[in-house]
Amino acid sequence: MIVMKLLYKRVLKPLLFRFDPERVHDVFVTGGQILGAFTVTRGLIGLFYRYKGPDISKTVDGIRYHTPVVLAAGFDYNGRLTRILGSVGFGGDEIGSVTARPCAGNEPPRMQRCVNSEALVVSKGLKNNGVVALIRRMKRQPRDPGFVLGVSIARTNDDLAVGLDEGIEDYVTSLRKLVDANTGDFYTINISCPNVHGGESFAEPDALHKLLARVMEIEHDKPVYAKMPINVSWPEFQQITDIVVEHGLDGIVVGNLNKNYDDLRYRDEAPDEYAGGLSGLPCRDLSTELIRRARAHYGEDLTIIGCGGIMTAQDALEKFRAGADLVQLITGMIFEGPHLMKEISHAYERNRSWIRGDKPRRSREVLRAGSGDGAVTSAIS
Ligand SMILES: Cc1cc2nc3c(=O)[nH]c(=O)nc-3n(C[C@H](O)[C@H](O)[C@H](O)COP(=O)(O)O)c2cc1C
Repeated sequence: MIVMKLLYKRVLKPLLFRFDPERVHDVFVTGGQILGAFTVTRGLIGLFYRYKGPDISKTVDGIRYHTPVVLAAGFDYNGRLTRILGSVGFGGDEIGSVTARPCAGNEPPRMQRCVNSEALVVSKGLKNNGVVALIRRMKRQPRDPGFVLGVSIARTNDDLAVGLDEGIEDYVTSLRKLVDANTGDFYTINISCPNVHGGESFAEPDALHKLLARVMEIEHDKPVYAKMPINVSWPEFQQITDIVVEHGLDGIVVGNLNKNYDDLRYRDEAPDEYAGGLSGLPCRDLSTELIRRARAHYGEDLTIIGCGGIMTAQDALEKFRAGADLVQLITGMIFEGPHLMKEISHAYERNRSWIRGDKPRRSREVLRAGSGDGAVTSAIS
């Protein structure tokens, strides 16, 4: 592994970092899709990057993950990498965010590296081919047993979906189509995308109530999570999570991009004006602290998926220590290389004695019965 690590950090990364980040991303997605199409290439990649130690599979809300490391939403937004990601050590792929209609995204440039700050400025604006194309692809593509496919859903980034009711119907359309097609093992409702038309309004209580009421009317038996903002105070975070719990969602992904450029190690690496949210290191401590507080406040039964600034295996352990059931990442893989997921799995294996184990699924009624102050736990026990 050490050779692959050095090769990435000393040779491949310096080369890749000379090119436009979105172009590199596109090349990797195309390359990953091709490599994923053949047993032999999947096997070869897996030889180097797949975790092969003692069984660390984990069941969360009834879904079994081979490894507790999932690709976060925003890297594989059209579901093209589902066949290769298992070979690079992931236990699952959160595809998307997908929207009801295809979306061209914001005007380029939509990604910028802050190399010394270990961060990206991201303003993709939910560029994706839309939910119908995603379902078509997922139906066509063979599935690898044990590899989990979640789908993140957001509001289409266009004029038609700017109004509150239209925005809600946009989410509902996507989820209904996914459910009708029996596509996706879990769903994440992205309520915190910082880079779209009409802003971040679904993190606002009234809008969130309306959205989740409609979303949860759709009948299916799959876990539903909410992708949380991280630039909020604890009382605001708690208010949002209370609503999430009240509507019977299974958990939260903590969390989305950081909008505060002062959290960069080197502020001057980012543009003067806001040009998109920050991924990577500037998310790390904000998200870990929110996970810690959420776990302490909501007890054991809320699923918490830790995401943001996992650049090392130690960072992932911190998320587990704070109370995460699973972790997700993107930027660590880009800055550190594809061996990071295997390193996290080995660290997870060595520390299993204190990491939270399997998490059973609670019924919607039980989840709805609890909201705040450990009430989720007390309603169950
Ligand atoms: C290029 C890029 C695109 C992203 N797009 C989405 C998205 O569509 N939906 C979403 O919920 N999060 C999106 N995110 C946020 C990530 O899912 C994640 O929350 C954030 O990057 C922090 O994790 P990281 O530090 O491991 O990258 C995106 C992140 C990046 C880097």
